[in-house]
Amino acid sequence: MPGMEIFGAEERKEVMDVLETKALFRYGHEHIRKGMWKTAEFEAEVRKQTGANYAHAVSSGTAAVTSIMAAAGIGHGDEVIVPPYTFVAPIEAVVLAGALPVFAEIDETLCLSPEGIEAVITPNTKAVLVIHMCGASADLDGIVEVYKKHNLILLEDCGQAMGASYKGKSVGLHGAAGAFSFDYFKIATCGEGGMTITNDEEIYKNLDHITDHGHTHEGDNRGMEDHHVMGSNFRLGEMSAAIGLAQMRKLPWILEQNRKNKKYIKDRLKGIDGLTFRKMEDESGDSATFLNFFVPTKSQATKLFIQLAEDSVGGVANWYTNMYHFINQWDHIKEMKFPSKLAVHDLGAPQDYKNLSLPISEDVISRLISVGIQCTWKEEELVVYTDKLVASINKVL
Ligand SMILES: Cc1ncc(COP(=O)(O)O)c(C=O)c1O
Repeated sequence: MPGMEIFGAEERKEVMDVLETKALFRYGHEHIRKGMWKTAEFEAEVRKQTGANYAHAVSSGTAAVTSIMAAAGIGHGDEVIVPPYTFVAPIEAVVLAGALPVFAEIDETLCLSPEGIEAVITPNTKAVLVIHMCGASADLDGIVEVYKKHNLILLEDCGQAMGASYKGKSVGLHGAAGAFSFDYFKIATCGEGGMTITNDEEIYKNLDHITDHGHTHEGDNRGMEDHHVMGSNFRLGEMSAAIGLAQMRKLPWILEQNRKNKKYIKDRLKGIDGLTFRKMEDESGDSATFLNFFVPTKSQATKLFIQLAEDSVGGVANWYTNMYHFINQWDHIKEMKFPSKLAVHDLGAPQDYKNLSLPISEDVISRLISVGIQCTWKEEELVVYTDKLVASINKVL
């Protein structure tokens, strides 16, 4: 995956800056910092590249989703519409907020569909948590229309989609707030870390306070600061932020390489009978971390998955194929043990999670194959990789 592929002198320099000043905490300690505020610089770089008015760094992508939920006022008993095709973190965030996840259908965008959302709205629905899967955005025009029509809050989990945009606007800015992950497997990484963005000043202030025990960050005496709200500790440390900063500066280059490499593979796959690609409303905004394609049937997808492993197609890419195949089953979401005393126990589940039937999603996911794109592929490596991929596909289709 891109971020981890290109650690170098830039990351080392930023980390050494922090070690030399010994200022590991993001707030205060001006007397030792020598003017260095890595978390603030990291946030500024994210603002610059996404065009957000506000960015606030946190300790993980999970913390980022949890924080935007709280900052937007989602809480006890609220229903939040989520997709069944996702990593589990955003569902955990909904439950931790005290809210109830309500699963709706996705479509071939691999994200929630506007019709899917509309079909599960109830008087208790408070928000839609759209999850931009595998580096590209949902059909945001349709989703924005639905959330506005029903007076809901739109939140965006962009955990897998830093660098992606929809019709010229970064993901994360199409509703109230967006959350990104910088964990080790993302397009830009700081090992463990997250980022929230918003254009709403009030939400930003909430984020600033909630993620640091309610501290108001006013004045120069942290011990004497007011705490108007209760929060938690979702702070990012300066060491991690230093790496995130160096990685964000590399993002434009990563995006360029990813898009070039993905286009080459996609063009080679275009003529294959029966193979179709993930639906994208705005392909130019794809961060191109994955190439997602469909084969006609579930059994062909299963065979192809096994074939790709047998033919050793693609190291890291193969690992991602594997991961997404596992996630595709989404049984682990159905079986999730919700923390006791939280909303689901208190209020009763709004859906029968164990017997959830989402036939469109099940069909889409069952025919999906995802391969990871690497930004460091040399031309010959890309050709060899693609030759192997095409040969495996031809054996199955
Ligand atoms: C869509 C999505 N949201 C949130 C997260 C959580 O991010 P983190 O691992 O940084 O907590 C992930 C992690 O893979 C993710 O894929």
